[in-house]
Amino acid sequence: MMKSTESNIKILFEPKSIAIIGASQHKGKIGYKILENIVAGGYKGKIYPINPKGGEILGIKAYKAMEDVPGDVDVATIVVPAEFVYPALKGCAAKKTKFLSIITSGFSEIGNVEEEKKIVSFARENGMRILGPNIFGFFSAGVSLNATFGPKEVKKGGVAIITQSGALGVAMIGKTAVENIGLSAIISVGNKSDLDETDLLRYLINHEETKVIMMYIEGIKDGARLVGILKEATAKKPVIVVKSGRSKRGAIAAASHTGSLAGSDEIFDAIMKQCNVQRAENIKDALEWCKFLSNSPVPTAENAIIITNGGGIGVLATDACEKYGIKLYDDYEALKKTFAPVMPYFGSAKNPIDLTGQAESSHYSLAFTTSLKNKNISSLISLYCETAVFDIQNFEPLIEETYKKYKAAGKPIVFCLVGGEKVEECVKSLRRRDVPAFNDPYEAVSCLGALYSYANYHGESSETIDKPKLDVKSIEEVIKKVRAENRSFLLSNEGQAVVKAAGMPVPQSYIARNIKEAADYAQKIGYPLVMKIVSKDILHKSDVGGVALDLQNKNEVIEAYEAIINNCRTHNPAATIDGVEVSEMVPHGTELIIGARRDPSFGPIVMFGLGGIYVEVMKDVSFRAIPVGRREILSMIKQIRSYPLLLGVRGEAQKDIESVIDSIIKVSGIIESCPAITDIEINPLVVYEKGVKAVDARILISHLK
Ligand code: ACO
Repeated sequence: MMKSTESNIKILFEPKSIAIIGASQHKGKIGYKILENIVAGGYKGKIYPINPKGGEILGIKAYKAMEDVPGDVDVATIVVPAEFVYPALKGCAAKKTKFLSIITSGFSEIGNVEEEKKIVSFARENGMRILGPNIFGFFSAGVSLNATFGPKEVKKGGVAIITQSGALGVAMIGKTAVENIGLSAIISVGNKSDLDETDLLRYLINHEETKVIMMYIEGIKDGARLVGILKEATAKKPVIVVKSGRSKRGAIAAASHTGSLAGSDEIFDAIMKQCNVQRAENIKDALEWCKFLSNSPVPTAENAIIITNGGGIGVLATDACEKYGIKLYDDYEALKKTFAPVMPYFGSAKNPIDLTGQAESSHYSLAFTTSLKNKNISSLISLYCETAVFDIQNFEPLIEETYKKYKAAGKPIVFCLVGGEKVEECVKSLRRRDVPAFNDPYEAVSCLGALYSYANYHGESSETIDKPKLDVKSIEEVIKKVRAENRSFLLSNEGQAVVKAAGMPVPQSYIARNIKEAADYAQKIGYPLVMKIVSKDILHKSDVGGVALDLQNKNEVIEAYEAIINNCRTHNPAATIDGVEVSEMVPHGTELIIGARRDPSFGPIVMFGLGGIYVEVMKDVSFRAIPVGRREILSMIKQIRSYPLLLGVRGEAQKDIESVIDSIIKVSGIIESCPAITDIEINPLVVYEKGVKAVDARILISHLK
């Protein structure tokens, strides 16, 4: 059944009537162009141009005011200068308008935030939703509605585009037409004052005609909501994203351009992977992927085959397969048996299947048929380098016919042809007929790679998420005490208490207020021991001699107690000292770091890495948005470069990865259940063959507002 938000947003994409407030007779004006596009596009709903002069525009009766329009209006496109937008809303409310597409610029993107807010709140009060402002409008193929001031001609098809940049969006309408990519919708979100990508995705994921969704994003306002809908979307169809602001300068430009904060690129990248969204580097790749993914079957298994007439291009394609994560079929015995009958004796059946430079289209034909029949082969990359013995005219129909056969059989196939004018013509002609033909092996393989990347992940989004059992009451008590002392950080014993309340094993420890207590606790715990100063005024404990390690007996404990107190008093005579923590010194293991924090764009996120130099120097960490399931956490652990160290090297046994997964779930649970906590970092979490120990936890909390 359709949910209410989805059925509402349907009215925006499939309105029965549209008004154009600011429609104009003057051909140079945007208000003319939009009306012209709506008429030229063949929209069958009611069209109401609104202009104070009335009369007729493009042969359609123009109304002097919205109030004069007979009946209600589903969508109003507003194209009057900024200062007239708010006054125009009254008429829209009177006509029970559901959606406003505000083309006008001059709002939050230039700092005019208050006017934008005023418009949004009036619209909300009157049951209207806003697309924009600062947009080029939207196109919806289902009702042939081109309510944009972009090109008149829009090719209809299976790709929907949501774009934050208006200018790029208009350019993409033109580009898609040239590249023969059909659109089911293209819609710009501009300042996202009200509707954003998430609202639009809600409609597109269930829109049958939309086969692939592409998004151009500059900044994200409500990332947590976006993550939820992206997971839903990719369970049904591929989503391809281009995000600008990768570089530090780019991020600044994006932030000032849209008035929204561009999140850290690493985190964005990680979270897109978590949602099974395919991230393209640039618009060109994104459009190529869209075209290919909207026309190609999804592979059911790995094992790709490369067929070529040239060794060099075969190697290039093999490299590209590694880059884009395509697994090549490598059962050489089976390959030899399959392909030996269709190739010359001096060829190679090792995949790339090299038909050699003397191959003719008949050799390709045999190889295509053989691969199609073979159930162990799931997809094919066909490469061709121009040779004088080859008849390209025969090849073109063979390629088209082969593509159709493979598509019908559910096997993806891409073609790459490299050569002179005739070859280029052949590629162009094939592309015009939607055959995935390219003139560069990397382009061909990157399309297949995006498809495999999507297909290999399919279904994981349905994973159930474990909720850890936390003693939230105990955690809240710790936070209450910290707040009472007007602190925003927890002392190490308080951090330990929080981690313990989440069910994580921590070293046994006590706070000694004098030498006698220190000696008693030492005896209770056993040796070796660690001792650390406990003071809210001393944060960098080691730097001031506030830590003693590897204490082996009572005498060493007594000496360490005196030394720690003396060092800290010398360093900061005014410091309030709560005592000295006496802790079990945990045995040697592999040191990990687990962190969680509230990201300004995506809400709670969790981080994992190996401790020490791996995190400090190599920055070898991975991120995920919370909530996150066990399988996804495992992929997060496997993602770091130093993962093999957890599997055991140089005779060491494998570490307890299941306990690490449990720890990540628990840390995620703490930040999810305790809104006061802004940052947690467990460093190190020591992992053994069996079990883990959270040795140190740094926790920050927000100030009470
Ligand atoms: N109701 C109806 N019509 C009105 C009203 C009203 N309340 N007030 C004015 N009008 C009419 C005007 O009389 C005029 O019609 P006319 O040509 O018959 O006189 C028409 O509306 C347009 O008003 P103008 O004052 O002529 O405004 P103009 O067309 O020059 O500019 C616009 C309006 C386009 C909205 C401009 O203010 C603007 O924001 N331009 C930028 C748009 C943009 O780039 N958006 C981002 C797109 S994304 C990208 O970068 C591609």
